Amino acid sequence: MTKLHKVRVSKKYIEGQNISIIELEPKDQQALPLFEAGAHIDLYLPNGLVRQYSLCQNPNENIRYRLGILNDDHSRGGSRCAFEDIGIGADLEISSPKNLFPLNQAEHSVLIGGGIGITPLISMAYQLLNENKSFELHYCGASADRSAFVDELQNGTLAAFTHFHFKDDGANHRAYFQDHFPSLNKQSHIYTCGPNPFMDWVFDLSKKHQFSPEQIHKEVFQSEVELTGNSFEVFAQQSNKLIQVDSNETLLEALVKNGISIEKSCEQGVCGTCLCMVLEGEPDHRDVYLTDEEKADNDQILVCCSRAKSKRLVLDI
Ligand code: FES
Repeated sequence: MTKLHKVRVSKKYIEGQNISIIELEPKDQQALPLFEAGAHIDLYLPNGLVRQYSLCQNPNENIRYRLGILNDDHSRGGSRCAFEDIGIGADLEISSPKNLFPLNQAEHSVLIGGGIGITPLISMAYQLLNENKSFELHYCGASADRSAFVDELQNGTLAAFTHFHFKDDGANHRAYFQDHFPSLNKQSHIYTCGPNPFMDWVFDLSKKHQFSPEQIHKEVFQSEVELTGNSFEVFAQQSNKLIQVDSNETLLEALVKNGISIEKSCEQGVCGTCLCMVLEGEPDHRDVYLTDEEKADNDQILVCCSRAKSKRLVLDI
């Protein structure tokens, strides 16, 4: 089972008009687990949802965790709850940090954040600074007054490494990076986090400039996933149960309803917690956790969001 930590909200304030900065301290006075730059936690929200948020701070601190949460207009209840329903003094539970976006050893690191995607990159920048490594941090957004952490990045220890690209100041980040990429050290690693089209653009540009797939990294937070679809049948081999998954329920819901317990966390195909092995049939992969190659193998499925293309799946559960 996932180990949870009890924490209390010690600070909450708004930056960039609709970004809530939340600081969490351990309830029992013990230090929180140390984490690697790029890590996130699962936050168990008061409305019962679980959402992933990057840790946004110097990784050498573990007396508090800091999160930056955008009040997303397209929220399905997660970020709005975090924004509106969590106040100073609130008691919450969080998972231990998990890192799906680790730093690699590189001669130079290029960190490119779009909007709220700056959060894991701030931790990475502090980590690289702590280790005296070569790096640059780029913050792209609409304007400084709609962005969080600007004052810290402008005036703190990361200031000398930070480049702002705010449209309201006349910046055109696409033109900037087109010019900048040819001058980058070819052994650099590129890290990006932000809206999917933004990250796709960074990936395409990096590939165009001959950076290999191993040198390009992105953080994936899935905001919307279609959970409904055709009904299908699942045979849970270890449990010896044949289960019908209706069109308006998820595979996970159908399994749980039939007494098969599956560990879960994000319930949106991001974290990998609900991974099950597929013995027969073709999954309809809807997650962002498995790689394209893993999806093509059709021998694993994330049951919280994925369904079946075939009429029947056999799972090793
Ligand atoms: Fe996170 Fe399914 S619970 S991928």
